[in-house]
Amino acid sequence: MRRKIAAGNWKMNTSLESGKSLASEVINMAETELSSEVEMIICPPLTHLSEIQKMSEGYEQIECGAQNCYFEASGAFTGEVSVEMVAALGVKYIVCGHSERREIFHENDEIIAKKVKAILDGRLDPIFCCGEPLEIREQNKQDEFVSNQVEKALFNLSEAELKRTVIAYEPIWAIGTGLTASPEQAQEMHKSIRDLLATKFGETIAQSIPILYGGSVKPGNAKELFSCADVDGGLVGGASLKSRDFVDIAKSF
Ligand code: PGA
Repeated sequence: MRRKIAAGNWKMNTSLESGKSLASEVINMAETELSSEVEMIICPPLTHLSEIQKMSEGYEQIECGAQNCYFEASGAFTGEVSVEMVAALGVKYIVCGHSERREIFHENDEIIAKKVKAILDGRLDPIFCCGEPLEIREQNKQDEFVSNQVEKALFNLSEAELKRTVIAYEPIWAIGTGLTASPEQAQEMHKSIRDLLATKFGETIAQSIPILYGGSVKPGNAKELFSCADVDGGLVGGASLKSRDFVDIAKSF
């Protein structure tokens, strides 16, 4: 059985104090309400990560992740943070390939592939994001587009490395827009990603990789999305900033 994951991407939101309160609410609710087979991941801004990681320690079902890192180990890279620096905080995950990093910060497939590898080399697990923009969806070329992103970032990995990777399919037109992919659209893409992984890594490994859906996931649509055969959870932006909503999403499996 594949892992079931609800990951919260807070993006550049919350103050340290409000972030700690939010994390504490999530942890308390999860502790009493969450089914034991579900994992929740909190990805706060980097400045909050150390404290929130400490708060989550001892709660088996709650993990923390960073939203970004750089692929070099050290050096003259003003403003950047290495995988080792993030790992030293005790967190388990780092998000990479998010469409906001690709679009706003011009991260291309080559940079993202280097980040995925650096994260794995640093003994953390990547949450690798992929997804097509609206114009590609309108031309019905989303399969080709997303396959290309997945191949460039993941096909150079070993089987052992891929096994530690979480994939998030996030159609860009659904991120922060209130538009959600229909369960059919999500399932179709998740299956296509899994089939693609199987061509390179074999069916058994492909079947073991969690593929999360992201893009306006809310308590009202999570159940339908998570009931799709190849949707193993969600990467949640806006709704992860409300403790009740985020925990309700995690309870939607
Ligand atoms: P959203 O963001 O849930 O606010 O659409 C998802 C994401 O960007 O990961």
